[in-house]
Amino acid sequence: VLAASALDHFPATPQGWRSFPAPAKLNLFLHVIGRRADGYHLLQSVFQLVDLKDTIELRLRDDDGIEHHNPLPGVNPEDDLTVRAARLLQPFAPITCGVDIRVTKRIPMGGGMGGGSSDAATVLLALNRLWNVNLSRKSLMELGLKLGADVPFFIFGRNAFVEGVGEIMTAYDTPDCWFAVLHPQVHVSTPAIFKDERLTRDTPSIKMRGLNVAATRNDLQPVAVSQQPRIAESLEWLSQFGPARMTGSGSCVFTICASQSEADRVVSLVPEEMTGFVARSLQKHELSEFAD
Ligand code: C5P
Repeated sequence: VLAASALDHFPATPQGWRSFPAPAKLNLFLHVIGRRADGYHLLQSVFQLVDLKDTIELRLRDDDGIEHHNPLPGVNPEDDLTVRAARLLQPFAPITCGVDIRVTKRIPMGGGMGGGSSDAATVLLALNRLWNVNLSRKSLMELGLKLGADVPFFIFGRNAFVEGVGEIMTAYDTPDCWFAVLHPQVHVSTPAIFKDERLTRDTPSIKMRGLNVAATRNDLQPVAVSQQPRIAESLEWLSQFGPARMTGSGSCVFTICASQSEADRVVSLVPEEMTGFVARSLQKHELSEFAD
């Protein structure tokens, strides 16, 4: 009964497709506090959901096929995180289940806004109900971690203080606000940033209680800036309007605005060679009820 009511918000078209949102995130800060033996880094970060969204369309199949209907040019559909998410969940389905997948991308790729991870999380959450798998949120987050360090956050489904390599989540309520975001039109490779010898890995651990975001930073930013000078130009331009910071491993940078009109004004002034957009904070992922 619960499964049916959650799905009712996402009605199927006559052709059987249901559309689900995959929201982006911004990292309000990102500290690198150590490195594990396997090379993965220990982080502390606040992950903030925002209203920029990809759309994931899913259609149930009678057979056990999992098919991507609009894979990115040059990308093997089997490598796509949405297909990998469906394949990972399929063995847990009680009966033979398959799915057709279509993705509409709006979140910039290689921008540090978690688009690929969010797409994968949305597939896991939606199929958890559509296939009647009904895994717990904790189990779904553990599965998601196999796809990428940012996936558990999107399954958690609310703003969070994130630790470990990205799998330890504490709910963290942030004020409603707007962000002016700049995309410097360069693509950053996350592994290349984490591998860079200039990356500092020894920021002291902080406590969530009494956290002062203004006293934090993004430790990946100096490395990304030195690899991609256009990120520095974007940060410099944006900092006319307030403190500007990079999200994730870049390349997008943002500043927090007090009102929507202030964010609109900043974005309207963005020079032609950069792309800017307004993003609004979200408190919850619309699919957060798809896992208990
Ligand atoms: O997990 P994800 O695919 O997002 O990570 C991409 C790469 O970023 C990893 O292969 C790893 O090199 C690096 N990474 C890391 N520590 C993290 C997350 C990612 O070193 N906590």
